[in-house]
Amino acid sequence: METSQSHSSKRMSTDLSELLKEATKEVHEQAENTPFMRNFQKGQVSLQEFKLVTASLYFVYSALEEEIERNKNNPVYAPVYFPAELHRKAALEEDLKYFYGRNWREEIPCPEATRKYVERLHYIGKNEPELLVAHTYTRYLGDLSGGQVLKKIAQKALQLPSTGEGLAFFTFDGVSNATKFKQLYRSRMNALEMDLATKKRVMEEAKKAFLLNIQVFEALQELVSKGQENGYSVQSKAELLRTRNINKSHEHGPAAGKESERTKMRNTDTTPTTSLVRWVVALSFLAMTVAVGLFAM
Ligand code: HEM
Repeated sequence: METSQSHSSKRMSTDLSELLKEATKEVHEQAENTPFMRNFQKGQVSLQEFKLVTASLYFVYSALEEEIERNKNNPVYAPVYFPAELHRKAALEEDLKYFYGRNWREEIPCPEATRKYVERLHYIGKNEPELLVAHTYTRYLGDLSGGQVLKKIAQKALQLPSTGEGLAFFTFDGVSNATKFKQLYRSRMNALEMDLATKKRVMEEAKKAFLLNIQVFEALQELVSKGQENGYSVQSKAELLRTRNINKSHEHGPAAGKESERTKMRNTDTTPTTSLVRWVVALSFLAMTVAVGLFAM
């Protein structure tokens, strides 16, 4: 049980890691409860949604890591510079190649909300680099926490190979123990030289970072709903399994799903024609029977 003293000393902490955790508690809950994340946690995530979120994350991490590189020697960021352990751009490129195929760069969409997030990252990196840690905290510590749960859910829901293809984003080869690494990261954040006023600005920026993520999730949800309205299918689990079985025989990964989707569309497109032909044959047969009957009389 905690004593009232430890309670009050907790409340008084000015460690950046504590301040950030406290400041983002509410908005973290908000992020967890977006329809996109709620469905994801229930395993209700389609391949289309997963591809879209991976694409948006690619734009976000490209901008984030570009700004990190710009500031890697700046004392306001240098202590939390962990490229080998954390950086995700290369992993996301690998995943996108797997999902979209060789021409993934031309295929991936960037919704307005993602663009806004990217713009903010560049602005911070260039103009207020002391706030960059708010963004790295929000993304990397999140990826090392809830992200690890989401990895298992995605793997199961999308039937992704156990060898890890399509899940490189969630796989931190340079981090053998996520809990220990997060502790190290927190201690490095706490070692940043920062006055209280700047810490408060970092806290505000972290809340903003969460809100930018929430807006991306909302935009993706909208994109998927619009797709449905326009007649594109959001693959159900059953459809996905069918697609994957076809893919397996082609051994090309989900990018080959496009061909099987096209094949599926071709199959459904011909269904009305097939029924019509059946009717014509049946009617012709009936007419012939009547004619033969009349002739025989
Ligand atoms: C379904 C969605 C999510 C789940 C289930 C989830 C779950 C969790 C859990 C269990 C922790 C605590 C881990 C620990 O104390 O070691 C955590 C921490 C964290 N999460 Fe999430 N999370 C989700 C979404 C997000 C999102 C969308 C973001 C930000 C974009 C995020 C950012 C963070 C951060 C920064 C931490 C570290 C907090 C700290 O220790 O200071 N999470 N998450």
